[in-house]
Amino acid sequence: MATIVEPTSDFSALPQVGGEVFTAPLQRPQHVADDWLEPRQHDYDSQDDAVWDDLFARQAELLPGRACDAFMAGLDRLDLGRGGVPDFARLSHELGQLTGWSVVPVPMLIPDHVFFWHLANRRFPAGNFIRTRATFDYIQEPDVFHDVFGHVPLLSDPVFADYMQEYGRAGWKAMRHNRLKALGALYWYTVEFGLTRENGQLRIYGAGILSGPREAVFALEGQSPNRIMLDVDRVMRTDYAIDDLQPTYFVIESFADLYHRTVERDFNAIYRELSAGFTYANAAVLESDEVLHRGTQEYHTRGGRGSNAPPA
Ligand SMILES: [Fe+2]
Repeated sequence: MATIVEPTSDFSALPQVGGEVFTAPLQRPQHVADDWLEPRQHDYDSQDDAVWDDLFARQAELLPGRACDAFMAGLDRLDLGRGGVPDFARLSHELGQLTGWSVVPVPMLIPDHVFFWHLANRRFPAGNFIRTRATFDYIQEPDVFHDVFGHVPLLSDPVFADYMQEYGRAGWKAMRHNRLKALGALYWYTVEFGLTRENGQLRIYGAGILSGPREAVFALEGQSPNRIMLDVDRVMRTDYAIDDLQPTYFVIESFADLYHRTVERDFNAIYRELSAGFTYANAAVLESDEVLHRGTQEYHTRGGRGSNAPPA
């Protein structure tokens, strides 16, 4: 069982945690302190800026009519396409005026308790590096394009901004109950790979989908994946694929709906009922599911990433 000694309501200082709470131990680089914050943003050169611009142009062509309205509005309001990797000071200033959030550079994936702590304080940790041309189409580590293009526009939406802060606060409770995997699944199927509905049409709000070209089409239009209405208890019991397109996407009605279903739930009760591992495979369709589309799973049956299976 995790050992955490801080009170739940005080998020001003990092929690003291025992090593057993870590899902994946990370080696902290020497130049960062316990908060894992980089002293300054990386100095991107013209080649880096060109990678950002080209990634941006590709997504900007794909996403109208696919991304949710709040994302497109945030992209516009924060003017993330003004050229080159955005300057975090400028971005934080503008985002701060909208919702009180800031964007802070971190060297790599950071430990769960540090990530939660930053979110609880309305700071979004973003990778302090950008992919190269060699990894232009796919990179597993979240770089500045994934983190800023994918996540930051929605932080300008007041309801989603509150959801993210509450998620950070909820993380500490999950650690105390040793249920980080379950909370991780919720993050995965909402913040990273969530779909929503607008005027009866499916739209994307998950950053993992929004920041890449293949999944934006696959998630919405592919015959292969399941599309199922979000049920929090069910999602927190569901395994997920970290290095390939998702076999299943979960759909919310709105951010207010998401907030209501999660933040206003008693997670103590949920955690008491959950087992340590996942109950459902990531492609499973349950009798209790409200299914919008039952996928063929053809893409994954044919081998998924690394095979020649079309993402259809
Ligand atoms: Fe992400």
